[in-house]
Amino acid sequence: MAYVSLDSDQIKKANKKHKYTKTQVEQLEKCMDIKDGPLFFMKTFMKIQHPVKGSIPFKPFPYQERLIASYNDHRFSIAMLPRQTGKTTCASGFLIWYAMFRPDSQILIAAHKYAGASDIMSRVRYAYEMLPSWIKAGVTQYNRNSIEFDNGSKISATTTTENTGRGMSLTLVYCDEFAFVQPPEKAKEFWTSLSPTLSTGGKCMITSTPNSDEDQFALIWKEANKRFDEYGNDKEVGTNGFYAMKAHWSEHPDRDQDWADAEKARIGDERFRREHECEFLIYDETLISSTHLIDMEPQEPIEKTGQVRWYKRPTPGMTYLVSLDPAMGTGGDYAAIQVFELPTFEQVGEWHHNTTPMNQQVRILQSITKHLHDTIMEKDTTATPQIFYSMENNSIGEAALLRVMDIGEEHIQGMFLSEPIRKGHRRKFRRGFNTTAKHKIDACTKFKELVENNKMKINSQLLISELKDFVASGMSFSAKAGQHDDLVSSCLLMTRMIKTLADFDPKIFEKWTDRTSELAPMPIYGSFS
Ligand SMILES: Nc1ncnc2c1ncn2[C@@H]1O[C@H](COP(=O)(O)OP(=O)(O)OP(=O)(O)O)[C@@H](O)[C@H]1O
Ligand SMILES: [Mg+2]
Repeated sequence: MAYVSLDSDQIKKANKKHKYTKTQVEQLEKCMDIKDGPLFFMKTFMKIQHPVKGSIPFKPFPYQERLIASYNDHRFSIAMLPRQTGKTTCASGFLIWYAMFRPDSQILIAAHKYAGASDIMSRVRYAYEMLPSWIKAGVTQYNRNSIEFDNGSKISATTTTENTGRGMSLTLVYCDEFAFVQPPEKAKEFWTSLSPTLSTGGKCMITSTPNSDEDQFALIWKEANKRFDEYGNDKEVGTNGFYAMKAHWSEHPDRDQDWADAEKARIGDERFRREHECEFLIYDETLISSTHLIDMEPQEPIEKTGQVRWYKRPTPGMTYLVSLDPAMGTGGDYAAIQVFELPTFEQVGEWHHNTTPMNQQVRILQSITKHLHDTIMEKDTTATPQIFYSMENNSIGEAALLRVMDIGEEHIQGMFLSEPIRKGHRRKFRRGFNTTAKHKIDACTKFKELVENNKMKINSQLLISELKDFVASGMSFSAKAGQHDDLVSSCLLMTRMIKTLADFDPKIFEKWTDRTSELAPMPIYGSFS
């Protein structure tokens, strides 16, 4: 787009006098309307550059009207839309309206790249230049990355950095492609430095196509969707005060199933899901489907005993399972313990550590079963606590079994649960659970089903994080390079323990076998039991 100087006819000089017709006065009044002004202004006067048709009047699609309303009706708004749906177009029109009809507005456009900032600014300029002269506000400065109006408003565009907006007194901040600010820490710091501005009355609009599910955009989005108060009433905005707006690719009038099929073939399924279905990206094929991982909400521990995190108080009448995945304790792999409640299938406690020696790992298991026992007995002295514990008995596990013997099973509350001996197997009975490749994939399959059907409730933030890095590798699953999967492994052992108990307890069996909804496909083939 050719750059236009302040002397051009397309720019109205500052403080120029103009005689308005009656219709123009009426239209100006409509534009000034705080509620319906922006949409009226954009529908009536704005022109856009269409890639094929050239300069055309802007006729917003219905979802774009919703987007413009979300900008205008809420002090804070966050919009997640597919690629090429007019996010930048709508924002440019809205910002021009805001600058012209709300005098003394200090507007900052923050884009993820320099090119992005220039692109938005050139759209803003284009929108301005194509307006009928009589409606234009006069301009005092007209630069590549900023425009100043004679009504005291200013629009400037910049790249998002840690310091963008810091100390500036801003009326409105617009963040475009916010999920793509790199590195993600930059977006985080930018957000922190912006918060004084926002808390003192500034308005904020964010748009993006989603990227990773842990960046600043994802965090704001998730908070914006927590809209229910403690009484279960739906509030319009989320806990962070943001209004969340979303549109689907099929709302775009030019996009139908044929378009989607062609686009999918062009960019691949994964990219289509992120860029058009607006699913947050978890790069690899995770065991638990990425859409489910996004929705999993961690809970704060209600108490800690040593390094054990507790999420729920043990209750008489419930059954408790404790699984230990032992490790050397020499600073490499972590040893981990999970505590689950049945028949609720809820995670009630968790522990992991990488420098705790083997005998201490078993001591911690012992202290956990004692805590369960004592808390239940405190609540009901007549209770018979149902506690089962177990551990892997592969290689390192042998050493853990010896530690159990040193301590003496009679000194550990609860029952040591072992995998049943299968008919026809000659193998000598061993305590605990032996993990073969087949056992692991079976446990993965069942664990996935329990979690995705919301039958198993996971509370730990650390476990949810590990699940995001627990990905298909070859014919099995493991942590991505450099990540850990000890908490997941102890959950897989937990799953096998539940299966063993389900054979004895009808209530557990019922929940174990009941499939309420369709299971998302396994990213690799596993045997389904
Ligand atoms: N209502 C509309 N009618 C016709 N064309 C439109 C409309 N809205 C946007 N466009 C055109 O669609 C194209 C994409 O718009 P825009 O760049 O604003 O989308 P975007 O969502 O910001 O895209 P990206 O994801 O690439 O940043 C542009 O050429 C724009 O002119
Ligand atoms: Mg854009």
